[in-house]
Amino acid sequence: MERLGLSVRLIISGVRPLALRCGQFPLRPALALFSPPRSFSPTFRRNAVVPLPLLLAGLGGLSVRDVSRSTPNQQVRFLRAVKGGSPSEVDAHLSAGADANGRHPLGWTALHVAAANGRAGAARRLLEAGADPDAPDEFTNIYLSAREKGVHSMDVMVAREEEFSDRLNNRANFRGCTPLHYAALNDDLDLVSLLLKAGADPLRANDYGRTPLEYARDGRVKNLLRRHAEDFEEQRRKQEQEMRKKYPLEKRIKEVIVGQDGAITTVASAIRRKENGWIDEEHPLVFLFLGSSGIGKTELAKQIALYLHKDDRRAFVRLDMSEYQEKHEVAKLIGSPPGYVGHEEGGQLTKRLKECPNAVVLFDEVDKAHPDVLTVLLQLFDEGRLTDGKGKTIECKNAIFVMTSNLASSEIADHALQLRREADDLAKERAEGKLEPDADLADKVTISRHFKEKVVQPILKFHFRRDEFLGRINEIVYFLPFTRQELTVLVEKELHFWSTKAKQKHNVELAWDKEVLNYLADGYNIYYGARSIKHEVERRVVTQLALAHETDQLERDCLVRFKVVNFEDGNKEPVLKMTVKKKGKESFLDLSEPFSNSSPLN
Ligand SMILES: Nc1ncnc2c1ncn2[C@@H]1O[C@H](COP(=O)(O)OP(=O)(O)OP(=O)(O)O)[C@@H](O)[C@H]1O
Ligand SMILES: [Mg+2]
Repeated sequence: MERLGLSVRLIISGVRPLALRCGQFPLRPALALFSPPRSFSPTFRRNAVVPLPLLLAGLGGLSVRDVSRSTPNQQVRFLRAVKGGSPSEVDAHLSAGADANGRHPLGWTALHVAAANGRAGAARRLLEAGADPDAPDEFTNIYLSAREKGVHSMDVMVAREEEFSDRLNNRANFRGCTPLHYAALNDDLDLVSLLLKAGADPLRANDYGRTPLEYARDGRVKNLLRRHAEDFEEQRRKQEQEMRKKYPLEKRIKEVIVGQDGAITTVASAIRRKENGWIDEEHPLVFLFLGSSGIGKTELAKQIALYLHKDDRRAFVRLDMSEYQEKHEVAKLIGSPPGYVGHEEGGQLTKRLKECPNAVVLFDEVDKAHPDVLTVLLQLFDEGRLTDGKGKTIECKNAIFVMTSNLASSEIADHALQLRREADDLAKERAEGKLEPDADLADKVTISRHFKEKVVQPILKFHFRRDEFLGRINEIVYFLPFTRQELTVLVEKELHFWSTKAKQKHNVELAWDKEVLNYLADGYNIYYGARSIKHEVERRVVTQLALAHETDQLERDCLVRFKVVNFEDGNKEPVLKMTVKKKGKESFLDLSEPFSNSSPLN
């Protein structure tokens, strides 16, 4: 009652809980999830008893997702039985085929209903029948859900209240709430303990980033959740450690990034030191990625964020520093001081770091930033904290900062190519029997210390003009142009990407001869890196497929094979050809016009 009372006061005084306005819970999170009073409630309620079946009729376009065995009506009756709380009725529905994990058309499961209504007996039966204790509620709020599903908000409100609970706030967003969130919100010790015993994750956050613990107020419920959260965290840490031993960072990254072995090793080693506490904890980790365009700098930063934070989107922050070239743009980064335009908005960097202080932050094209912006970055790297425009300090010693730059990229590329040529010569000598052979010597070149000190450092010093800025970088990481072998891997990856798409979208199989990889690798342009390979595959392969599709030459279940003609004939220009084998046929056929040899496409 006390919490409802406080909600009432907030509404009456016109201070609507902040959550309603900006998705943040201001005071106690639980307040925002409970229902504010409604002036029209009595009339609404009298008229509202009927529409349950009506609601389903009204939601005609909807299907109850994930309900494999029961029809929508059955499922709704099942949810009502759960709300009623009689275990025997729940049993009866389950034996009649109701799906314990089925969802209401608006997104919640039976276990959410049981937890929100304090039905421990029903919840036990559901868990025994395999209900997922961590299922996230897919319901947002009445108005958004109504818009999403194309139905009237009144219908949604009635369904939510009738089948779920009328104690909850209509306007708050419930997406991501697990049954444990609802049980904690009700301070229901029995249900909380039941769900935890069934393996519910006490650390699972909802869309607001809140865990169940943050909604509980009863001391015993809080203690129970806290204890389980600690055990869970310890268990998770051990599992992750095991996983990382079996499947180290380098291996994961190499599944996505082709080549760049030196860069991957440098970054992975630094992250391993950090993860295991072998690093100066007072400073964040700072990398500078150098190399030409399209060779994996941004991709590597993304992969680090993915490795460290899984799919938490807040954990990867990307700022294009070419947007911070003017002195006054510092304010865009950290927010304007009070009294200035945009003060309320906060800074691009400070806002994001506040949300996730251990994020991976990418400063793209850092060399373009104004010197005053670099001063802010220096403070950030040096002290591991940043003061925003409002004078608030954000601690971010655990963040990882990655700057990228194309400075010295042509020198690095030339140097790498030179080293590869030398290594090639050496490999040839070895092949001629003078030395022990080593097949991929040319692929393993490393930038020499001498080159770094005599060529790269002076370029960086000249540009940044500040030794202390360069001094705060933990690792300068070098990205090298692709070798021939890496280019063919890139081409193959791209072809696989399109072949999966062709299969999924058009039921067409793609195949290619080995020479096709080499032929397409010729489209590599050192200035555009892997992007030029993507472009080449789109231009030569995907465009042809699209044209064949448009001219009805690709039937479902056909097999398309790409081959190169004149590949080994030095006198003639090699040509990429597309042939098609229809379902049930033996041989591949060339395509008719516009795919003749005279076609500009060939
Ligand atoms: N080594 C690589 N392996 C696999 N894919 C790559 C590699 N390098 C680049 N790509 C692909 O090419 C595209 C561009 O790569 P990325 O954004 O990492 O380039 P970049 O080095 O950051 O270039 P820029 O300096 O232009 O920002 C991405 O789609 C990426 O997946
Ligand atoms: Mg980039």
